[in-house]
Amino acid sequence: MPCSGSSVTIISKCVIYPNTKSTIKSLKLSVSDLPMLSCQYIQKGVLLSSQPFHISDLIASLKHSLSLALSHFPALAGRFETDAQGYVHIVCNDAGVDFIQAKAKHLSVDVLLPANEDVPHYFREFFAFDRTLSYSGHSRPLAAIQVTELADGIFIGCTVNHSVTDGTSFWHFFNTFAEICKGAKKISKSPDFSRDNIFNSPAVLQLPEGGPKVTFSGNEPLRERIFHFTRESILKLKNRANNSPLINGNGLLESAEIFGKQCNDTWKIVSRCKGAKTAEISSFQSLSAQLWRSVTRVRNLPDSKTTTFRMAVNCRHRLEPKLSPHYFGNAIQSIPTVASAGELLSRDLSWCAGLLRKNVAAHDNATVRRGVEDWESAPRLFPLGNFDGAMITMGSSPRFPMYDNDFGWGRPLAVRSGRANKFDGKISAFPGREGNGSVDLEVVLAPETMAGLESDTEFMQYVSAVV
Ligand SMILES: *[C@@H]1O[C@H](CO)[C@@H](O)[C@H](O)[C@H]1NC(C)=O
Ligand SMILES: *[C@@H]1O[C@H](CO)[C@@H](O)[C@H](O)[C@H]1NC(C)=O
Ligand SMILES: *[C@@H]1O[C@H](CO)[C@@H](O)[C@H](O)[C@H]1NC(C)=O
Ligand SMILES: *[C@@H]1O[C@H](CO)[C@@H](O)[C@H](O)[C@H]1NC(C)=O
Repeated sequence: MPCSGSSVTIISKCVIYPNTKSTIKSLKLSVSDLPMLSCQYIQKGVLLSSQPFHISDLIASLKHSLSLALSHFPALAGRFETDAQGYVHIVCNDAGVDFIQAKAKHLSVDVLLPANEDVPHYFREFFAFDRTLSYSGHSRPLAAIQVTELADGIFIGCTVNHSVTDGTSFWHFFNTFAEICKGAKKISKSPDFSRDNIFNSPAVLQLPEGGPKVTFSGNEPLRERIFHFTRESILKLKNRANNSPLINGNGLLESAEIFGKQCNDTWKIVSRCKGAKTAEISSFQSLSAQLWRSVTRVRNLPDSKTTTFRMAVNCRHRLEPKLSPHYFGNAIQSIPTVASAGELLSRDLSWCAGLLRKNVAAHDNATVRRGVEDWESAPRLFPLGNFDGAMITMGSSPRFPMYDNDFGWGRPLAVRSGRANKFDGKISAFPGREGNGSVDLEVVLAPETMAGLESDTEFMQYVSAVV
């Protein structure tokens, strides 16, 4: 999609302050927050249909709702401060967040959501703090909202410093902002700002002089597409991942003899034999495995090349004692799973999905704690990127309540992101708009890899048009 010059006009810009003063003084960045200082701000937003109000009334209402929402999330209205010992804190000083009103009245919803085409670059201009590193939260606001008026709709883009929230806390804030705007007198979920947990560490992260640098190029040519998977497609994939050694090319069960022979070979057959439920491969692991296989195939790597599939896991419920599901901050760890290109492609989907499942299942209380200790022994920034041409990084989650953002005139038409943290092999998983287990994958790839994926029948057979 050509994008020459700016398609968005900024109408006004102001700072919005919390409606009530913060009762929290400061929050020290944790083991899970600090590595994100070298990541860019999270930029996610919702495309909504035309609002029934006059734009000036809507803007006033959004500003007021944002101010009320910030009272519940004082951390977002603060600033970073590094103390003499090298600890970085969010000082909850009510310094406020940026609010930007913009318009792009020549852009319609149809143009922004084309069927079977790349995501238009226009979305990049619907977010504040383009390509800003989280480290800059020392001087800049930690969050910004941009509201862009379109021909027949409106886009609300939210940008939040990644060292302040992970995806779970990001959507918690966004959902709260929407529910207040819709008229809620009391918010449904209050954030938990307690810091008495394993992530609160005495370790100091030494930052390079002048602050961290972005870890990926950001200038390479990239294509971006949304692939939609219906509930039925996902179930087919999951079935294949859980049953494939038992099913021949026609989808029929192989003989009991083969079933018996393979009974001890792979974990899932064992689980079938023993009826152990915990061993089931999830829908998301099945979809991830298919993507890993297909992208690796079209990258044409040598058989011996090690490929890496990285995904972030939410640690809130993995720890014992558990963190509150509303714990505010980052509580994520990144899990790499590796396999050689040759093995990935010669084995079946089930084998690949089994590797992912095994790693995720192993990420329990003890593993999370080991991850923290490991980081404490060598504090470092998070290396986000594709450093050897054979990596895939899965972010976001189809479980995030992205469509639960009704600002008063209906659910979003679509969820889209800005340019932040994108490189060849960066995938973000969103729930499908129809819910019910459907998934949208936002796939960012080198142009030739994307072209290959579009003609990979093993992958494309599961992709549907958005309804
Ligand atoms: C997030 O906060 C960190 C710490 O102050 C800051 O360095 C970084 O630039 C901020 N990121 C963004 C995108 O503002
Ligand atoms: C599976 O393993 C069990 C115990 O390890 C063994 O007793 C059994 O004979 C094996 N079954 C097959 C089909 O190989
Ligand atoms: C979780 O790990 C901690 C630290 O090793 C340990 O004390 C605790 O008993 C563990 N809890 C469970 C339920 O495994
Ligand atoms: C979800 O999918 C199932 C199976 O297709 C269907 O029976 C059910 O009605 C769907 N629910 C919603 C809310 O669409």
